[in-house]
Amino acid sequence: MRVLVVGSGGREHALCWALAASPLLTRLWCAPGNAGTAELAENVPIGVLDIPALVRFATDNAVDLVVPGPEAPLVAGITDAMGEAGIACCGPSAAAARIEGSKSFTKELCDAAGVPTALWERFDDAQAARDFVRRRGAPIVVKADGLAGGKGVVVAASVAEAEAAIAEFMEQGRLGAAGRSVVIEECLIGEEVSLFALCDGTTALALGSAQDHKRVGDGDTGPNTGGMGAYSPTPALSDELAEAAMERVVRPVLAELSNQGTPFRGILFAGLMMTSEGGKLIEFNARFGDPECQALLLRLQSDLLPALLAACDGDLAHFSLQWRDEAAIAVVMAARGYPGAPVKGTAIRGLDRAAAVPGVTVFHAGTERLDGQLVANGGRVLTVCATGPDLRTARDAAYRAVAAIDWPEGFCRHDIGWRALTGA
Ligand code: AMP
Ligand code: GLY
Repeated sequence: MRVLVVGSGGREHALCWALAASPLLTRLWCAPGNAGTAELAENVPIGVLDIPALVRFATDNAVDLVVPGPEAPLVAGITDAMGEAGIACCGPSAAAARIEGSKSFTKELCDAAGVPTALWERFDDAQAARDFVRRRGAPIVVKADGLAGGKGVVVAASVAEAEAAIAEFMEQGRLGAAGRSVVIEECLIGEEVSLFALCDGTTALALGSAQDHKRVGDGDTGPNTGGMGAYSPTPALSDELAEAAMERVVRPVLAELSNQGTPFRGILFAGLMMTSEGGKLIEFNARFGDPECQALLLRLQSDLLPALLAACDGDLAHFSLQWRDEAAIAVVMAARGYPGAPVKGTAIRGLDRAAAVPGVTVFHAGTERLDGQLVANGGRVLTVCATGPDLRTARDAAYRAVAAIDWPEGFCRHDIGWRALTGA
């Protein structure tokens, strides 16, 4: 099999790493990739949104399977475009990827499929949105309807804060078209967990649970990020609760999408709030999370490649995956300045020493090699991962590896896994 991975983050390095282990693989490319993927795949200098160039490359090189990592090319229709060229692409069509691209689409889908989620309403008019917020009171959640790169959600503790978000999104146009309409919803209280499933349009195979750490600082402080660390599995989603969420959230939504004529193939990522009334859906993503993917794939014992092919072929019903009975943790190292403007071009040393710590695997994100020297060229730069018989052992190994990395301009959170480890 000749496979093209699309993306350049830690998630895509982990995908390349898992695919490279497949006996079915003959050739692997990554577009555009990073210094880590370059060790496993041939990097191709094509951006993730240059879909015509990606299709041309895949056609010219007889690629059998395309594996997109991030949401942007999915929402932009990479799977449809590859399909028209006769190339299998393990991700949803643009129509099915609206599950990530539009909040109101997802909320309507949940209502149609009877999936538990926060009560909600959609507004195109700022004054009507303000009236609603005043009527409902705080806490309340204001969400830009479109894709906003993680900046489109405000969990407002007061009515004034909610009104400020409405003004910013709808009147000041801070998020452009993405904020022209908003979804306003009930604030859910509980612990947040993520559940991943591989879908083939009708069958969903559970890929396990994880918990992300969105805030940049220790103790969940500071601004939101793409994710500073994750671990899998999370004790907040026991096997029983995970199966309940598959039954009450994932499978009904899959059936509804199929009924609507837009079957979902690829990775479905459900963000759940574990409330006193059970798990409720916060959001869906149409892809693996980053860094959740790194933690999940380290636990996967089975060959990833045939599973992704089976998802494309509608063939998951008779498929099963084996998982290591281990805990995995992923600690993100970011460049100073992140999630604002990160410092770039700084040298990173000591990765060999880090990778030599038992149980440790280091995935690259924003890295490149300049004259043989590894340098940072992004916000999130490395994901230092470890597996172990339990989370504490994995955590200790990952932080020993972090300590072995010589990169003064990098930083990480020091408390990844704290909820599970303290039972909070
Ligand atoms: P989303 O982009 O919809 O995942 O929202 C981003 C984050 O906002 C989530 O990860 C939650 O932490 C928080 N959030 C979103 N919706 C709600 C809600 N209804 N109640 C409480 N927190 C929420
Ligand atoms: N780590 C969260 C995400 O990938 O959306």
